[in-house]
Amino acid sequence: MDFTQRFVPTFRQDFKARDSGGFDRPRYLKLASELKDLISLNSGDPDLTAAPAAVEAAVEALRTGKTHYVYRGLPELLEALGRKLATENRVTVDPRTQLIVTNGSAEAATAVFQTLLEPGDEVLTTDPYYSGHVGSILAARGVPVLVPTSGDALWEPDPAEVEARITPRTKGFIFANPGNPSAAVYRRETLQALLDLAHRRNILMIPDELFERYVYDGHRHISMASLPGAADRVITLGGFSKSYCMTGWRLGWIAAPGWLAGILEQVRYAMSMAAGTPNQWGAVAALSDAARPYYAQVYRTYGERRGYFIQALTAAGLPQQPTPGAFVGMVDIRRTGRTSSEVAEIFLREGRVAMWPATAFGPHGEGWLRYGLVVPLDKLKEGMARLAPVIRTLLPSSAPRV
Ligand SMILES: Cc1ncc(COP(=O)(O)O)c(C=O)c1O
Repeated sequence: MDFTQRFVPTFRQDFKARDSGGFDRPRYLKLASELKDLISLNSGDPDLTAAPAAVEAAVEALRTGKTHYVYRGLPELLEALGRKLATENRVTVDPRTQLIVTNGSAEAATAVFQTLLEPGDEVLTTDPYYSGHVGSILAARGVPVLVPTSGDALWEPDPAEVEARITPRTKGFIFANPGNPSAAVYRRETLQALLDLAHRRNILMIPDELFERYVYDGHRHISMASLPGAADRVITLGGFSKSYCMTGWRLGWIAAPGWLAGILEQVRYAMSMAAGTPNQWGAVAALSDAARPYYAQVYRTYGERRGYFIQALTAAGLPQQPTPGAFVGMVDIRRTGRTSSEVAEIFLREGRVAMWPATAFGPHGEGWLRYGLVVPLDKLKEGMARLAPVIRTLLPSSAPRV
């Protein structure tokens, strides 16, 4: 008997295949697994870990039996998040009714789409996209609709391009700001234009602000929910994984409009009931003043890695026009005249450095690789020392030196 045909609905059977953007991920991973001493810049999970104060608070919670269910979120964490949103993000929410603590922001996105979508409803996102967004749209039987973006515009979507793809089935637009894979940082005017569009065309905006702390070069992260008119139209997704170095702790949050929060809470309850209680005590400490110096240092560490990486690529013959974000981002390889998959494979085989071809995140990633600054600076330097001679062999001999 074919168990898959008998038990797995057809719409689920191609679930994985549709997530890969046409890039042959298994082949690439097999190649990578055969290499010794690989420097992997393609993960989203960094070497850095949570602030000691957060670890202590979580351990203390375990020791003292603070281990019971807390359904919508630990009240202390909801309060702390409310304060953080008000002071850092200028977003006003009622923590007792509008915030939900989730198992990672992955669960936040999934809960939102499980709540909002009828089968066949469309959700706009950027191309290149964060694959988890596409996955959670598909899991809710929605249809992801891609809005092309370009490195020449620093990967910010053009609101007119977003609008052009709205149909009667469109429910909303989900985007990572700062971006993954792109490290785009949306300007106020772009956010305002998108929000105006949400009003005009009656859709929702769903910013994912997981990387909110990593913005450089004098730019500032702006939460769309802080703009006038955002209250009923913006669902903000956030989390502790990246900005607080807590990937495996699985903590995220949703700041939802009042009309949505109640039903969203029920759907999330059906999915996982609650997030881990000791972890939430850790998160309270991560948001406290005690952890501030630690995370200020983390910010500087990513800034240093980013600065070095951009300068080293440029010196090797691949000039970059960097986006203001960090942690993950895009390498412009257009000067090589080769495809993203080709260059990723050459970097892997000849430099033993792994970076995803950005086509793994949508066709508009062609000409780019995606990096993650997830290794210490000395490893990054070793990686660039290996890549620099490889890059030189890829550049046309007529290419001007930079
Ligand atoms: C943009 C973005 N959103 C959401 C997630 C999911 O992260 P988590 O569930 O750990 O919060 C990731 C992970 O890489 C991401 O890059």
